[in-house]
Amino acid sequence: MSVSRLVPCILLLCAIAPVRVIASGVPAADAVRPWLDPGLSPGERARLAVRAMSEGEELSLVLGDFGSVMAQKGYRPPAGARMGSAGYVPGIARLGIPPQWISDAGLGVATQRASRDAYRERTALPSGLATAATWNVGLAQRGAAMIGAEARASGFDVLLGPGADLVREPRGGRDFEYAGEDPLLAGMMAGAQIRGIQSQHVIAVLKHFALNDQETGRTVLSADIARGQARMSDLLAFELAIEQGHPGAVMCGYNRVNGQYDCENRWLLDEVLKGDWGYRGYVMSDWGAVHSTVRSALAGLDQESAYTFDEKPYFGAPLAEAVRTGRVPRERVDEMAERIVRTLFAVGVVDHPIDPEARIEFGADRRVAEADEAQGIVLLKNAGGILPLARTVKRLVVIGGHADRGVMSGGGSSTVFPVGGDAVAGVGPAGWPGPVVYLPSSPLGAMMGEAPQARIRYVSGRDVAQAVRAAKWADRVVVFATQWAAESEDVSLTLPGGQDALIEAVARANPHTVVVVESGGPVLMPWVSQVAGLLEAWYPGSGGGEAIARVLFGTVDPSGHLPVSFPRRLAQLPHPRLAGAGLAANRPFEVRYSEGAAVGYKWYQRERLTPLFAFGYGLSYTRFGYGDLRARVRNGQLVVTFTVSNLGQRSGRAVAQVYVGPKSWRALGWEAPRRLGGWSKVSLAPGASRTVRLTVDPRLLAVFDSRAQRWERSPGPYEVWLGDSSDPLGPPTVVSLPAWQHSARWNE
Ligand code: GLC
Repeated sequence: MSVSRLVPCILLLCAIAPVRVIASGVPAADAVRPWLDPGLSPGERARLAVRAMSEGEELSLVLGDFGSVMAQKGYRPPAGARMGSAGYVPGIARLGIPPQWISDAGLGVATQRASRDAYRERTALPSGLATAATWNVGLAQRGAAMIGAEARASGFDVLLGPGADLVREPRGGRDFEYAGEDPLLAGMMAGAQIRGIQSQHVIAVLKHFALNDQETGRTVLSADIARGQARMSDLLAFELAIEQGHPGAVMCGYNRVNGQYDCENRWLLDEVLKGDWGYRGYVMSDWGAVHSTVRSALAGLDQESAYTFDEKPYFGAPLAEAVRTGRVPRERVDEMAERIVRTLFAVGVVDHPIDPEARIEFGADRRVAEADEAQGIVLLKNAGGILPLARTVKRLVVIGGHADRGVMSGGGSSTVFPVGGDAVAGVGPAGWPGPVVYLPSSPLGAMMGEAPQARIRYVSGRDVAQAVRAAKWADRVVVFATQWAAESEDVSLTLPGGQDALIEAVARANPHTVVVVESGGPVLMPWVSQVAGLLEAWYPGSGGGEAIARVLFGTVDPSGHLPVSFPRRLAQLPHPRLAGAGLAANRPFEVRYSEGAAVGYKWYQRERLTPLFAFGYGLSYTRFGYGDLRARVRNGQLVVTFTVSNLGQRSGRAVAQVYVGPKSWRALGWEAPRRLGGWSKVSLAPGASRTVRLTVDPRLLAVFDSRAQRWERSPGPYEVWLGDSSDPLGPPTVVSLPAWQHSARWNE
């Protein structure tokens, strides 16, 4: 055991009494251990349990180990850790408190690269953006429940996801892990994913709190933003996710906000998260994000993760010393332990011990991932109805993207090593954050299954002349374009490896060309006017190749809508030059988010810019009509009703979106003319209609006043728009809203 962990144990009165357990392995409550009574509230159980702890036992809960070997530091994880895992915190056997076995991440059960010889092969969800692009909260929850079950069956009770940082920076290397640019969409999707993971009695960890919105300089930059603007954007996504999902833990990020590191930022952790939002779980650090003992402890950090990534084990001996000298009150350590143990009770970790014999149904899990991707693929262009492809197509050429082998996934800690292994070994950096992992789900193979009569040829695309010849031979051409994104580095929006030139050459050779993009986020598309069809498939996940083929041939109607705006050019961005680019590594710098809450479509609409593709945009193989829009005030809330109709000849799913904003938005201090106020995804047969009713969260109609520490809505006329994209929208209806205000302490 590492030296730093010895200290708490020295203080520990090690009276190890065996915990009586009943047949199912659940520790049974008894007079000595009343906290094991599931009839008590999690808070009461935690209070009782911590009261029975020694100081050493409390301290043992607040210091996490890394779960994998770090050869360069001569570190080996404790014996109890899972192989190749992200973290481990020993349990307290005599009290019936289990260990915290911690795994990455939000897209499935990942394996640390250090364990290269023994990857855990698991099911990979499509990227977070793909799930967000489904605008289907139920699907998001279902996918998360699947990875939660795989985590539990793999011996983990903590899963380090979902991420809810807003896509402020379309070049962000981790955008693929997140849920887009709008706080309502991101918050609702992340909240559903938290519910899904925790439905399996696995603790979900909402991350990275907060404003970890780019990778360049992520451990040294300061994200500077007016507090009120943060409350209406990045923080609102977290606030909604916490309300919707009640995550057992929140992970503070690497960066600074307004000059203070996230993990010692009293405003973020104590004032906002635990104070205003009444958050009762615990705050864990990101791996290497702790920079102090007393400042972090007093600011609201409850657990130091993987202390070997920090300069020292701040919450090891230094914290014990800080308690001894009174710089950190013992009560604060009591609270840390209580928050951690409360979560273990609240999520069911104690009452539902890990079952080492649990099986994973990989076939069923792959179908869950595929269903997610199938509804997350966004049809961006369909000139001349080139899509869906006819199954009677005679000659079809498929080009590039290793589409004959698999589909791309993102890099870094979220990388899931797939069942069946990496379909294209040896691509990209061998070390961190690589390799580029391709999931064994071949779009080509699946397309052959969709059109068994067709003569389908594949060319790699490395030889443009060969690709052009093949395109000339074909009746239809499908080009797969890929852009790899990874944690710890940001990306260019230009497709790498000459793919733009390849697409342009192929489209010139054959106008019946469709492009399928597998990217981490928005990309520039200089060839968009030259191709006939265009799909954004994100990182498609396990079974993603089959999902792409089913959409291409119309077995599934495309129903994805963009969770992020696609710019026409970099000059349209709030920060055309990536902040910190070119600076020496570890040289601190500021990212001044002067755009405030005007993220994504709000920026474009405020600045009267027209992006290449707008937030919320997505086509279908059928057509939908929207009408009967009405907005009324009911019990002080804005209630919007409307009808959606399928005007086409085939079934489909519509994503009806409601946007809201005051006529005098600038005068009222709004960041943009309108905000997403709600949506509904509706599945309709040809000719069918559905009436939808939704209520708009009052915070989306208000401005956060930092001085008064409250949400304030001005009285007056508000416009309500309806459509299937943030732009264009139909004519608004106008409703008069009364003044309204509510303290920042939303859960009061
Ligand atoms: C990483 C990431 C975080 C991840 C953790 C454990 O650096 O920032 O998302 O969960 O460390 O791998």
